[in-house]
Amino acid sequence: MELSSTKAIKVKPGEKGAALADIEKESLNGSGSVLVKTDYTGICGTDVGIVSGKLTFTYPPKGKSDLVLGHEALGTVEEVGSNVKGLEPGDYVIPMVRRPGGCLQCRTGRQDLCEDADFVEAGIRGKDGFMSEYFIDESRYLIKVPDKSLSRIAVLTEPLKNIVKVYRIYRHSNTGALEHCSDGSFECRNVLVTGFGPIGILFAMIFRTHGFMVTATNGHTDPVRESIAKKTGIELLMDEKRDGSVFTGKKFNAIIDTTGVPSVVINGIKSLNHNGSMMLFGTSSGTATALDADIITMLVEKNCTVFGSVDGFKQDYIMALRYISMWKEMYPGVLESMITSETTPEHALNSLSSKQHGDIKHIINWK
Ligand code: BGC
Ligand code: ZN
Repeated sequence: MELSSTKAIKVKPGEKGAALADIEKESLNGSGSVLVKTDYTGICGTDVGIVSGKLTFTYPPKGKSDLVLGHEALGTVEEVGSNVKGLEPGDYVIPMVRRPGGCLQCRTGRQDLCEDADFVEAGIRGKDGFMSEYFIDESRYLIKVPDKSLSRIAVLTEPLKNIVKVYRIYRHSNTGALEHCSDGSFECRNVLVTGFGPIGILFAMIFRTHGFMVTATNGHTDPVRESIAKKTGIELLMDEKRDGSVFTGKKFNAIIDTTGVPSVVINGIKSLNHNGSMMLFGTSSGTATALDADIITMLVEKNCTVFGSVDGFKQDYIMALRYISMWKEMYPGVLESMITSETTPEHALNSLSSKQHGDIKHIINWK
């Protein structure tokens, strides 16, 4: 099938700004490829970083100077190549972000753990993304949405897959200390999530779903955040100074930082309990905090673990969709309420350059 021209949001990596443009027509380019009509794309901090011109690791596809933005997408299959199994027109799909290079991890489906940075990421580095009316992809990089009733909340699958991965690593990496409580539950285990944006909310929800007691902090609050915290049983604290001082003196078994702010991370590490884990997911730039010897001693003496994590593999996307189905039933309306703004491609440039207090997730409707 030939498409005359299709609209897309493009950036010049390294430069500030984005523009809605017509891009070349594309047609199915192989028996394993799929033509997808984009329904929704999400906007995340990575996109805002690219549009600001400040994100250092973004670059265009080989031989091009611009890049189609967008890595959080939900689309509908329009046409499939003759060798495509398990997908048919009308199916909802989520495209994967990261595509493998040649290292051992990449060759075995674990490009999220790439050993030599020889991968590309749609809409971020070296590969066009999904902020376009249509895109063509290989079927192996498309995750079918099994529950068609999910509709637009399935656009949260891509960010959630990162969180599913961190939760999986946390549950697999332990010191040998008993993790559960004397009754077999996790109710005596306190988890702290710093930052209650889209990522922080999803982290808090996954730990809460597994029975942990969860506290989250954020620099400001608003009715939507408060309602999400209340409905999911998460304690929400205001960290007005945005330095982690609000939780100083409390102790946690697990901490997930989504802020990337050094002072928050250091205050977090100081708040770890024995056998605690500090999981780093957020990144930032500009500020510095000294690491003092007491912190090193504390990490050693308390058997603490600190690890960072990025991206996720196919199973994490599949599990993310399962969580979304479950949460739709468990917490009616909560995921919907995270989508605080839905815009058109024509009006998306605003959402790509600024975030207001009270905003959680912005999405673009391409339909
Ligand atoms: C995406 C990840 C990606 C990362 C790159 C995130 O927004 O969800 O898949 O690896 O950006 O830093
Ligand atoms: Zn993202």
